[in-house]
Amino acid sequence: MSYSPYLLKGQKALVTGASSGIGEAIARNLALCGAAVVVNYHSEGEEAQKIVDDIKANNGEAFAVQADVSQEDQVKEMFRQTFQQFGTIDILVNNAGLQKDAPFVDMSLNQWNTVIGVNLTGQFLCAREAAKEFLRRGVRPQISSAAGKIICISSVHEIIPWAGHVNYAASKGGINMMMQSIAQELAPHKIRVNSIAPGAIKTPINKSAWDTPQAEAKLLQLIPAKRVGDVEDIAKAAVWLASDDSDYVNGTTLFVDGGMTLYPGFTDNG
Ligand code: BGC
Repeated sequence: MSYSPYLLKGQKALVTGASSGIGEAIARNLALCGAAVVVNYHSEGEEAQKIVDDIKANNGEAFAVQADVSQEDQVKEMFRQTFQQFGTIDILVNNAGLQKDAPFVDMSLNQWNTVIGVNLTGQFLCAREAAKEFLRRGVRPQISSAAGKIICISSVHEIIPWAGHVNYAASKGGINMMMQSIAQELAPHKIRVNSIAPGAIKTPINKSAWDTPQAEAKLLQLIPAKRVGDVEDIAKAAVWLASDDSDYVNGTTLFVDGGMTLYPGFTDNG
């Protein structure tokens, strides 16, 4: 994809969980397309600052802000800082997410609550704050045809059940209904809300699933395209969903998974 530095010119973006993995790639690519970017992080302050420094060295605009997205007061403070520095917001990428895996009967309430808190409640809290600002400000036609765009990073596990990851799969299934319901409610206000559902992408969250040849071979059995995804695969989709090129796309989930949701187990099954 060839990026135009004008594609998102004048737009202000906030990417949660942007200090590594998919969030980092999205933040960097939104900046390449001309957006000013808030790089949210939870605990990796140095990594977040490095991303900010790189964006600035490339003539972009960015700053880092620490916040646990599952905490309402911290989310409100993050948006306050965003408005203070950038004036407004045009693009929210709800990316922050984590896994706390356990066999179902061993899963603690804390593991359940932590994952639902960050992956689902965190997306709700950030979407609500962004939507309030989109509604207050409305469309600025010279900037974008939408009053605002929200991109929820979901997972193939919003539809693929996942044994040993009940909290995670439930959070992602919840994102789908949350995203569609917000989209339905806010579409008349020219606010677009969509999800990206990544498959297996090489990031720290799933390192053990791809960092040895044996693990990778096992993982590839689940991917018809026979390639583990790269963070850039997701960033390209996010740029498109953030831009006016997807103006008529609302309330949809874009699966970027090399075909993982095509039930590859049935390929040679009669
Ligand atoms: C999970 C990864 C997993 C992938 C495919 C993602 O949502 O975070 O750990 O490899 O789904 O199963």
